[in-house]
Amino acid sequence: MNASVKFTTSQIRSDFLEFFKGKGHTIVPSAPLVPGNDPTLLFTNSGMVQFKDVFLGAEKRSYVRAADVQRCLRAGGKHNDLDQVGYTARHHTFFEMLGNWSFGDYFKKDAIAWAWELLTQVWKLPAERLLVTVYQTDDEAYALWRDMVGIPESRIVRIGDNKGAPFASDNFWQMAETGPCGPCTEIFYDHGDHIAGGPPGSPDEDGDRFIEIWNLVFMQFDRQPDGTLVPLPAPCVDTGMGLERLAAILQHVHTNYEIDLFQALIRKASELTGMADLENKSLRVIADHIRACSFLIVDGVLPSNEGRGYVLRRIIRRALRHGWMLGVRQPFFSKLVPTLVEQMGVAYPELPAQVDTVVRALQAEEERFAETLDSGMKIFDDVAAKVSNGVIPGVDAFRLYDTYGFPLDLTQDIARERDLTVDIDGFNAAMETQRETARAAGKFGGGVTLSADLVATLKPTVFLGYDRLQADDLTVVAILKDGRPAETAQAGDDVIVLTNQTPFYAESGGQVGDNGTLTGAGVQVDIRDTQKFAGQFHGHVGRLTQGSLKVGDVLSGQVDGKRRGATILNHSATHLLHAALREVLGTHVQQKGSLVAPDRLRFDFSHFAPISAEDLAIIERKVNEQVRANNAAEVHNMGMQEALDFGAMALFGEKYGEHVRVLKMGDYSTELCGGTHVSRTGDIGLFKITAEGGVSSGVRRIEAVTGQGALDYVAHEEAQLSEAAALLGGNAGDVVDKIRQLGERQKKLERQLDALKAKQAAGATADLGAGAVEVKGVKILAARLEGFDAKALRDAIDRLKQQLGDAVIVLAGTQDGKAALVAGVNGSAMGKVKAGELLAHIASQIGGKGGGRPDLAQGGGEDGPALASALAAVVDWVTPRI
Ligand code: ALA
Repeated sequence: MNASVKFTTSQIRSDFLEFFKGKGHTIVPSAPLVPGNDPTLLFTNSGMVQFKDVFLGAEKRSYVRAADVQRCLRAGGKHNDLDQVGYTARHHTFFEMLGNWSFGDYFKKDAIAWAWELLTQVWKLPAERLLVTVYQTDDEAYALWRDMVGIPESRIVRIGDNKGAPFASDNFWQMAETGPCGPCTEIFYDHGDHIAGGPPGSPDEDGDRFIEIWNLVFMQFDRQPDGTLVPLPAPCVDTGMGLERLAAILQHVHTNYEIDLFQALIRKASELTGMADLENKSLRVIADHIRACSFLIVDGVLPSNEGRGYVLRRIIRRALRHGWMLGVRQPFFSKLVPTLVEQMGVAYPELPAQVDTVVRALQAEEERFAETLDSGMKIFDDVAAKVSNGVIPGVDAFRLYDTYGFPLDLTQDIARERDLTVDIDGFNAAMETQRETARAAGKFGGGVTLSADLVATLKPTVFLGYDRLQADDLTVVAILKDGRPAETAQAGDDVIVLTNQTPFYAESGGQVGDNGTLTGAGVQVDIRDTQKFAGQFHGHVGRLTQGSLKVGDVLSGQVDGKRRGATILNHSATHLLHAALREVLGTHVQQKGSLVAPDRLRFDFSHFAPISAEDLAIIERKVNEQVRANNAAEVHNMGMQEALDFGAMALFGEKYGEHVRVLKMGDYSTELCGGTHVSRTGDIGLFKITAEGGVSSGVRRIEAVTGQGALDYVAHEEAQLSEAAALLGGNAGDVVDKIRQLGERQKKLERQLDALKAKQAAGATADLGAGAVEVKGVKILAARLEGFDAKALRDAIDRLKQQLGDAVIVLAGTQDGKAALVAGVNGSAMGKVKAGELLAHIASQIGGKGGGRPDLAQGGGEDGPALASALAAVVDWVTPRI
């Protein structure tokens, strides 16, 4: 290889895409790290994820050849490298994968030929440095390498099922436990015999000498949950080449962290942490983690305590702990983002577009963890010092997790540095105990749960209430009294009634449960709430007001239509609001919670800053535009996958694989929802935002009203405005002008009042001087001034000092039972009498305190009889001192 040629990371990306474009490939943008189409996967872990359905034949694209540079994350799930980062030369959480694909088009021959051409002719890697592996039984690939490419047999290695099961091999690639898979051939680069390590398949293959650079997978099967391999509709090609390790080779450096992109990040991290050694492990971890964290946030993940958000939180906290190890005690992590944008912003325009969100999310998490990191580290040190068997007890790891926010793997990482391990079983046991306690405390309706026996005998309640509010033939299947099953109930009993079917909506998805009545012959139950038990039984909560009731009785149900009617307007408006927020603020907005009640709606969502009045107005206007568009609210029942393909917004953690309800309003909002809704958006009438505020870090809340509630709200505001106008002596139209004028007038009056006060004070003190007692040429004066505050007293003292010359003066300004005190000493009395001492002396007599300089002091106390005597005694206190 020509050692002088160095390819930058950006050059490599564009060379790759250009090359495959020249071979008839369509260039496709990188998909987000959160797979849009695949519930089996936590993160996009390779280039083929976005094409999974194309391999399976479930999706058709307009092209049969594609190439891209895909951002990938291997932290959590089947491919998890988090624990390795920083300890090896080549593991990353986040990395970029160059890939080319054939969807039933070319196969092994072209894939192999083009890979070889790009490596040896475009990038000019010396052929003698490359060797390849093939799957044990793949004679076709073996022959292509030997005969078509001309690689000597000594550098073609067959690898069998070396991972303990059929088709479990380094040369049999699968995306996850299920899904597309097939045999593969891998290309390795030999860094030279000065580096330790053996060729693939040899006992010391894990060394750093032979490095896999490109994996060409011949996708042929769809692995089923039971392990069987079903052939794909057509054989496909899926290749993946790690950009960072390729760059290391093309830039003649040994570890990935030495390539241009990482060096820029490491230099910045070094500057921020003060760690000068650019090979320091912590700098490498930080440089790796800033990429993973920033792109996760770009792709809509925010730090949280579950799912993807928790993976993000774990990575951020690891990075912060490494900064802490380097002695950093100030926020630093988010300051790497601008450097990352410089390095990767051109290849991934979504990064600069969301830079504010990224910085804010990282800052918020840094601030949050800063509160406990230091104390947590101390706890860890204490625990570690006491450990005798090399194992950190599970309860301590749990305490660090629960109280100090140390994810388990962070504690493990710290332990590993000190040659300790963590008792994982003990940790899990402590976690389970806490869950049990929480579960016991969180039972429905003051501890009411259905017994397992009862649940086993019941069928899920059939909900009839999507399109009606009244229904007959509701058979009572269980009655609960005092939380326990009962066969019968009498008038006056508080009961929870379960029926085989019901028009009553049970609280879920934020929507409150219905009210109404259940009736039968001579029987009435007033229902004040409907709750869901065990996720599938509607429990009517209320009081039996007439007759008696027994299991097996048949009732009719009537839902309070007015209340439900008002609730559905708020529910449908919540969906429109969600869509408007994403349109106006960005797609990082995700639902974090909601309440849909008859009188209002409340919607919590991820966002970092308060929403400006202008944006709120735009959001409100957009929702009202949708209301006026009067689109039908269509409900579709479909499979989960179908729903996602249909474009439905779904929250992570929703149950997949089941049938779901999708609510679609025009082209504006498509969401999974089991709630009850309007038939047309126009039914909402009017949407008004009533409040916006913060709930917790990164989560905002909007409250709003709809329909009659919105009209009432507007009417109330109008009434208040009219009242204000009447008080101001004008009409609603000129309230603002009137208030502005009033404000200006008030300022003017205040200025006049200040001037008057000063004048009055000067007048009041002018005669005071005459009351001074002269002792040895020093004028001693103590006086009480009604209504003077401390400032007025100080001004008076200044004037009296000028007027009296050598003087000791004490003034008490009284107001509302309080006395402000100021003492001043001037001229020859200075050095003999200290104003501070004098003031403290007087203040102590009126239950107060004070002090100050030798020439001026101030304080205060109670205004009462003691004040007069304290002032009267001033002359006696001063005289002996002068
Ligand atoms: N999907 C293959 C891999 O990730 C190319 O290695």
